[in-house]
Parts: sequence; C-alpha cells; structure tokens
Amino acid sequence: MDQYSCVRKEEVMQIKTFEAPTAQKPLLLCFNENPFGMSRKAKEAAGRALEAASRYPFIRNEALREACARFMGGKPENIMMTYGSAEAIRASIEAYLGENPQVVVPELSYSDGESCALRNGLTPVKVPMGPDWSVDIDAMMKAVDQFEGSSVVYLANPSNPTSTITDSVKLNDWIRSKPVNTFFVIDEAYAEFVDDPSFVSAKTLVDEGFDNLVVTKTFSKIFALAGLRVGFAYAVPSVIEKVRRRVAYDIMMPIVGIEAALAEIDDREFFEISRLENRVARKILTDCLDELGIEYLPSQTNFVFINLKAALEPFAERMLAEHILVGRAFPPALEWCRISVGTVDEMKWFAKTMKEFRAKGWV
Ligand SMILES: Cc1ncc(COP(=O)(O)O)c(C=O)c1O
Repeated sequence: MDQYSCVRKEEVMQIKTFEAPTAQKPLLLCFNENPFGMSRKAKEAAGRALEAASRYPFIRNEALREACARFMGGKPENIMMTYGSAEAIRASIEAYLGENPQVVVPELSYSDGESCALRNGLTPVKVPMGPDWSVDIDAMMKAVDQFEGSSVVYLANPSNPTSTITDSVKLNDWIRSKPVNTFFVIDEAYAEFVDDPSFVSAKTLVDEGFDNLVVTKTFSKIFALAGLRVGFAYAVPSVIEKVRRRVAYDIMMPIVGIEAALAEIDDREFFEISRLENRVARKILTDCLDELGIEYLPSQTNFVFINLKAALEPFAERMLAEHILVGRAFPPALEWCRISVGTVDEMKWFAKTMKEFRAKGWV
C-alpha cells in the first residue's frame, strides 16, 4: 500500500519522532489538520518569503491564483483567494443573500453556514439528517421549494463532522436544475482525501458554466497550512466578481502563505504521502474500533465520527486527562465523537488509550 520509502518520507515531510503527549504538548485529534505539518519545501519557501515581506505581494498573489486555477482545472478568473476558506464561505453566502433570504444547512454540519446566517440576523434553516447522519438532499430541496424568498444552501462535501460524502448525482442534478432564487455554496475542504470513485466534485458544474454555485477550497487540510490562512473560492467569473464585492477591494494573501502554498500545490509527492499516511493511520483507528465493537461512519476524510453510545463530555474529559484533545460536541449527534486522524504513531497511541478505557469500562 505504501509506495514511499521512509527516507523519501523523511525528505519530503520532515517527520518528527513521536513523543507521548503531555499537558504542554497534547495530542491534537480535534481540528482535522494534517498531522505532519507543512512539507520541507514549503517551510523553506516560507522562510525565504520573509525576505520579501516588506513588499506588496501583487505578482506572487497572481502566481498563486494561477496555480490554484491549474489545480482545479480552470482559469485564474475562476479563483478568488481568501484568508482560509472560512472567508470564501462567508463572502459567498453574504453575496447571495437576496430579497427575503434564508440560509439552508444540514442540521449536522460544519458551522460556517450557520454562523454566517446568524451574523446576518437570520435563523439558519437546519434540515434534519437522513439515515446514518446522511445529508438529506430531498429534505433540503423541499426546504428550498417551499420558501417564497431567496435561498442560499451551504453544505460541505465530504461532510464535517460525519466524514461521509453526499450522493454526487443527486446533489449535482439538483444544482443543475437551477432552482429559482437559489444559490449553492459547496464546501470541498476535504475533497482531496476522498477515495470513493462515485464522488464528483461540484467544480465540474462550474466548469460547465453554471452560475448558481461557488465551490470553496482550503489549504488548511491536506496542504497543512491552517495557521497561514489560505483558501479560495472557485466559480464562474460573474460569480467571482459578485463575491469579490464582499471582501476587501482585492485580496492579497500574506507572502509567507503564498509561498508556502505555491511550494505545495504542485508537489505530488507531499500530496500522495499525506493521503497514504492518512489512510494507513485511519485504518489503525478503525481496526481498534472494530476490535472494541464501536460503531463509526465510513470515513472519506482525515477524521472518523464514532458512536460512543454515551454522552461525549465524560469521554472528552477523560481523554483530556490523558492529554488527548478530541472533537467538540456536534448537536444533535450528542453521543458521537469526531476523532481527527493523526500520524501512524499517534493513532497507535490513541488505540492503546481506547483499549485502556475499555478495560476501565469507560467505552
Ligand atoms: C468543512 C470545513 N470547511 C471549512 C473549514 C475551515 O477551513 P479554513 O481553515 O480554510 O477556514 C473547515 C475547518 O475545519 C471545515 O471542516
């Protein structure tokens, strides 16, 4: 399965030796980041970027826009760089809040759609989930169809916290049907991890020329730049222009983020090693859950949603006492816990801890 030698991994990733977590350096299984950190090349590029940090980064910002366009298979006019995808999500939603607006989100979802609705004085319309916490597209369609005003639909695919994908045919057909006064913000923060061949990125609709959606992307996940805040919106140029009006006149990313992102976006080795390591580490986690008979959803991402069949809080507190931070509560799935996939050694440590918890009757 793993085609990369340890030496190559070491050269590309700068892998740190595992140390048992402590209160000062807890094991972070809570934010779905890339546990390796930035690639060696990206760190070097970021370091060099400081030399240029007294100058405006016009040209390099444009270079990153072009690189993102290549990555997506589109043109620079399809891209608007943003400070993390959070900013792309917010600006896209706000740009399309028309007359008498509603923001429609799955009830169990990453929170940006909901928080954007709230900051605009709207109560988000939370659509109950389908079986196994799936996104219920039929119910979402109903929520849009029955509403007289304009709708913005936000959903992440793959979904956070569930880690699963939404039926691409159903979702993409819905967008293609162009429901009246409806705009879609499709958050594909985790698309790079997906193995399921049935997944079709909503970017294909942008490429077909649809002007009723934006796809938001981030460098915070597989690209390991969460702290540098780099993301972008991908849409047809008319949509990009409309979304751009919701941000500062023309976003220039900080040069350190630009150079780190440029160093990684075309680095297939870093990308593939991150994907492979995630898969291997995730299997250690799911093997442990299988052994303990703990239910979980089939993950297409770098996190796994597990069914504790008990309240999250005591579990999270006991993990904290072991210096392990797990995901927060995601109502209404109050007995489920999201575990971010760490490195192989980190997952072995977590599996060992879970088995100790079982011995104590805690899970
Ligand atoms: C689904 C989803 N979208 C967006 C984000 C935010 O990412 P960014 O760091 O790009 O703002 C996250 C972060 O966890 C996420 O899970």
